[in-house]
Amino acid sequence: METNPVLTTSAPPRERRIRPPRSYESTAWRWMRYSAFLLIPLAWGHVIINDVLVGVHAIDLNLVATRWAFVGWRIYDAALLAFAFAHGMNGLRQVLNPNTWISTSRTRTSPSCFAASSRIAF
Ligand code: HEM
Repeated sequence: METNPVLTTSAPPRERRIRPPRSYESTAWRWMRYSAFLLIPLAWGHVIINDVLVGVHAIDLNLVATRWAFVGWRIYDAALLAFAFAHGMNGLRQVLNPNTWISTSRTRTSPSCFAASSRIAF
């Protein structure tokens, strides 16, 4: 019986990796992934601690002052705000400019958008 060479091939499927060219847009996209990775412990930790463990009704000025006294919590909160804000701003920019990867005129406005969001964050 004749076998179909396409269906009976024993060669493993070849992995195809696409490397986007280094550009402002590809770096911004990569940082969306990095910040998302960091936001999992930062954002979820924030919600679990404040909404589940402490409870929103137990949050008062005293609790905020107690937390603020520890430099570790300041760093945690600053990192959460900075990464969430930068991630959100850059995501919004990508949503508003769906063809950022191919556009040249938009990449000129992107750094100023990023600089403005960084300026507000810090
Ligand atoms: C645990 C927290 C979060 C995780 C894991 C997460 C993850 C992600 C991932 C993986 C992407 C796609 C990136 C890409 O490949 O282009 C993304 C896009 C986006 N994220 Fe987040 N994110 C988180 C929190 C947030 C927050 C707090 C905001 C807003 C302040 C936000 C706003 C956005 C926006 C606007 C986009 C672009 C959506 C799009 O391209 O359609 N994210 N996020």
